[in-house]
Amino acid sequence: MPLHASHLVAEPVGPAGAFRRWAGHFCLVLGVGWLAWPWTLLALATAALLGGLLLAWALGLPASFARRTGSVRVLVWRRRVRRDWHAVCARCGLAERETPQLRRSRGSFPYVQLRVRPTLGQTSRDFEVAADALRSAFGAARIRIEPDGPTDVLVTLTVGDTLGIPFAAATGASPELVGSVALGRREDGQAWRLPIGPHTLVAGCSGAGKGSVFWSFAFALAPAVRTGHAQLHGIDLKGGMEIAMGRQLFTMSATDAAQAVAVLEHLVDLMRARAEAYAGRVRSHTPSLVEPLHVVMIDELAALTAYCSERDLQRRAETAINLLCSQGRAPGFMVFACLQDPRKEVIPSRGLFTQMVGLRLKDQSEASMVLGETAVLSGALCHRIPRDMPGTGYVLPEDGGHPIRVRAGFATDDAIREVAEQFATPSHVQLRGAVPAPVTKRPQRARAGGGAS
Ligand SMILES: Nc1ncnc2c1ncn2[C@@H]1O[C@H](COP(=O)(O)OP(=O)(O)OP(=O)(O)O)[C@@H](O)[C@H]1O
Ligand SMILES: [Mg+2]
Repeated sequence: MPLHASHLVAEPVGPAGAFRRWAGHFCLVLGVGWLAWPWTLLALATAALLGGLLLAWALGLPASFARRTGSVRVLVWRRRVRRDWHAVCARCGLAERETPQLRRSRGSFPYVQLRVRPTLGQTSRDFEVAADALRSAFGAARIRIEPDGPTDVLVTLTVGDTLGIPFAAATGASPELVGSVALGRREDGQAWRLPIGPHTLVAGCSGAGKGSVFWSFAFALAPAVRTGHAQLHGIDLKGGMEIAMGRQLFTMSATDAAQAVAVLEHLVDLMRARAEAYAGRVRSHTPSLVEPLHVVMIDELAALTAYCSERDLQRRAETAINLLCSQGRAPGFMVFACLQDPRKEVIPSRGLFTQMVGLRLKDQSEASMVLGETAVLSGALCHRIPRDMPGTGYVLPEDGGHPIRVRAGFATDDAIREVAEQFATPSHVQLRGAVPAPVTKRPQRARAGGGAS
């Protein structure tokens, strides 16, 4: 059979062929459409382009999207609340005789604040009782009720979630250790900054994302680690799984109880020596190459303080942690610990931690143990954080305001390895396991009748 020229051009088959066919049909429809209805097609294309750009903005930069479009969204919510106020109050049992007066509505995304004047005989307690019904009637994510002056009630609705999309943990911008470091984002779109200095306890059940808070903090200090202004010491009794990935960031590492006790007691010695050197000279520490900030980072604190099979090591670890927590802040020693179970039996020295991060917890009582009952009543609902939002939690602001919902950046294994390589500490100290504690002989009892009277 003679070979025709067309046989030399292979017909595309499989997915490539299908794509070409569809692209051809699409171009044909577009061409015909353009000839028949050019302006309609132009308007549709513009709308699709704008929609795509908005979607990309919302998914790619959710905080910036929320900030820029927030005022419009709050306006829509305020209108909706004003429109439905009477009906909602009636359905939620707040308008038996008359409707509480909605005096003012305002807000900045994701919050809408309503100032309400209760009817005669009503109190803020009535609004607290109806809070969940009000929240669900308006379709808000969360609600907070508080008295506002002698007569009014402030109802704060959270109407959006800027923390829904995970984001990557970032390294700190500079080696300077002043004030606080950024760990992630706050619900209101601002950066979540954690003060450096206060001993910090991160509590959350398994899978709550303690690892992301742990690594976000290590990443934030990484520039100071590289220059030698900060030294991190990692303790991970879960076989070292967590800290092994970023070992180069840690000056000392411990993966069993004996090593952990050695690290902690060594730090207590350093702390005492520094405090003695400071006595009468200075009252607070400024990180320097000679006197760096020491941060002991413990992945599962309970493995050391509650589940350790060697009683002596457990007691010594507890004593060292208590000493570091109670005396470490001024001479520049900080404890940063993660924990699954915040009960007092598990962590007797919970009160020595002055900064708490409450991630997802089992129930309301655990949330109260971590952040306090008042914080839970004013909205720190750690037990309601969804499972599919690891790294999300609540913190209390330093100024004592309401709890803030936050999310830490996520550090992948590769990111941890990369940061550890790039910001490796210049000082590594290898300690042997814990030196056995000196045996203290009990003083012999004086024989009866033998002592001085
Ligand atoms: N900030 C985050 N953003 C997105 N995903 C996260 C974040 N933090 C954690 N995750 C995901 O959640 C999973 C559990 O997180 P992680 O291991 O940190 O929990 P954990 O609280 O340390 O649990 P455990 O106590 O069992 O060690 C991780 O494998 C990761 O995929
Ligand atoms: Mg973990």
